[in-house]
Amino acid sequence: MKKAFIFDLDGVIVDTAKYHFLAWQNLANSLSISFSEEQNEQLKGVSRVRSLEKILEWGNKTISEEEFTRLMAEKNEEYLTYISRMDTSEILPDVPRILNYLISKTQAIALGSASKNARIILDKVELTNKFNTIVDGTDVSKAKPDPEVFLIGAKALDIAPEDCVVFEDSVAGVQAANIANMISIGIGDAKVLHEADYVFKDFTEIKEEFLDTLLTTEKV
Ligand code: G6P
Ligand code: MG
Repeated sequence: MKKAFIFDLDGVIVDTAKYHFLAWQNLANSLSISFSEEQNEQLKGVSRVRSLEKILEWGNKTISEEEFTRLMAEKNEEYLTYISRMDTSEILPDVPRILNYLISKTQAIALGSASKNARIILDKVELTNKFNTIVDGTDVSKAKPDPEVFLIGAKALDIAPEDCVVFEDSVAGVQAANIANMISIGIGDAKVLHEADYVFKDFTEIKEEFLDTLLTTEKV
């Protein structure tokens, strides 16, 4: 049976959290707001606008709309300089093995990311051609845990939501998959991602046999 496998990007295919951290930290510094790696963790899966709002809340700062827009642009400019240096060495372990196995089984593959930079990043790591459809932050109006990003992907592939499997590293992303009635697979810490149908530390833990069982499983 044909299924769709939808991959989040940041934290699933590549680890860009470290680059977001550097850029947000510089921005926070410029506003005299302290910003830790733990706080950066809480921005995983969170849109760019909401991330800046949260940083301002943590620092108890209010700024004008113009400054907000300027800071967002500056943050992204800095982030873009980091991702412009990315290459295939930054693909997380065993991601190509999983993608290639699913493709060999003629399954549909989608990207479902909140990032407006997703297409650039996929190009840098030379994975664009693995995806049948790419849905990113430029295609959606509602952020995860709203299921919009995954539902658009399923629709583009003409696969029913209950026949979709989502790989996600963020709590909001797992929730979005569950709300969409898709099988959710958490990639990361099982305690953090306890709402997922399955959790693996990373793709090295996912065996072909497990993927085979997904081909005949529907979300219940
Ligand atoms: C992903 C990341 C978030 C990031 C968001 C928007 O969900 O996990 O940390 O804020 O994408 O990314 P962008 O590249 O559009 O700023
Ligand atoms: Mg993510």
